[in-house]
Amino acid sequence: MVNGEIISNDRLKGDYFVVKFYTPEIAAKAMAGQFVHVQITRGRDYILRRPFSIHRVDGDTLTVVYKVVGKGTEVLAARRPGDVCDLLGPLGRGFSVPDDDVFPVLVAGGYGAAATYLLTRQAPKKGCFLLGARSETDILLEDSYKAAGYDVRLATNDGSVGHKGFVTELIDGVLKDYPDEKLFFYGCGPHPMLMALAKLLDQKGLDGQLSIDHLMCCGVGACFACVVKMKADNADGWEYKRACHDGPVFDLKDVYLED
Ligand SMILES: Cc1cc2nc3c(=O)[nH]c(=O)nc-3n(C[C@H](O)[C@H](O)[C@H](O)COP(=O)(O)OP(=O)(O)OC[C@H]3O[C@@H](n4cnc5c(N)ncnc54)[C@H](O)[C@@H]3O)c2cc1C
Ligand code: FES
Repeated sequence: MVNGEIISNDRLKGDYFVVKFYTPEIAAKAMAGQFVHVQITRGRDYILRRPFSIHRVDGDTLTVVYKVVGKGTEVLAARRPGDVCDLLGPLGRGFSVPDDDVFPVLVAGGYGAAATYLLTRQAPKKGCFLLGARSETDILLEDSYKAAGYDVRLATNDGSVGHKGFVTELIDGVLKDYPDEKLFFYGCGPHPMLMALAKLLDQKGLDGQLSIDHLMCCGVGACFACVVKMKADNADGWEYKRACHDGPVFDLKDVYLED
């Protein structure tokens, strides 16, 4: 546990905020896809920490992008520069950094856009960023990805920006436009989107990794509150793994594809 002093905490867009913590210990070790477990404030209602993906690291500061969805995130949005949060991290297994010849295809839904961003700094080759959301109001960080040199493609359910439909429907276009590249997919977003992505990549024989975010309690592998089904060589064909400790990033080949 370390103290993270809030340097800034501002509205990014709509219900989304961006908070910067001064935390040299965590910033020095953070990898793409890992998360921090944040004690938002003191008090009975906040004993349980809230997990947030590490969006970016700049020197001694670590940035998180979050959506206000409930009590904890509401209180976080009200915290001011100079306030201090207790942080645990960096936690979990992050995305593997691709080799020099790999063309990364980042596929995100909603706040998943925050989790894949560090890959743009850690991956040697620039690739594509596919972002899906319900509507334009949930399209995040596309300018950051463009500035990082990524080919950004958007999809919204209501067609308010980009392709009208699901983010997975953008994948055929990427396969068509980059036929000679060695593609590797990195996914982060809501569970139904990730499962649709996993099935599609599996059908097409494509490889990748998925960040499977699940409701968490301890965040360090002790309570089994966050278990997810992964393939196993047993009679059931699956076993439980802890998203916080064995993940949140899992190899696509290990993800159990339910009907
Ligand atoms: C590894 C990991 C990384 C995450 N990264 C981010 C991030 O970068 N940005 C971000 O905005 N959110 C992220 N989340 C989700 C975030 O942890 C929750 O939104 C937050 O804990 C909600 O706290 P709350 O007290 O405001 O809401 P609560 O009052 O606890 O819940 C309000 C609503 O949010 C839903 N919710 C709560 N926890 C989660 C969760 N873990 N995943 C999905 N929905 C949840 C609840 O089902 C409920 O509908 C991440 C979750 C995990 C497990
Ligand atoms: S949250 Fe406790 S084991 Fe994962």
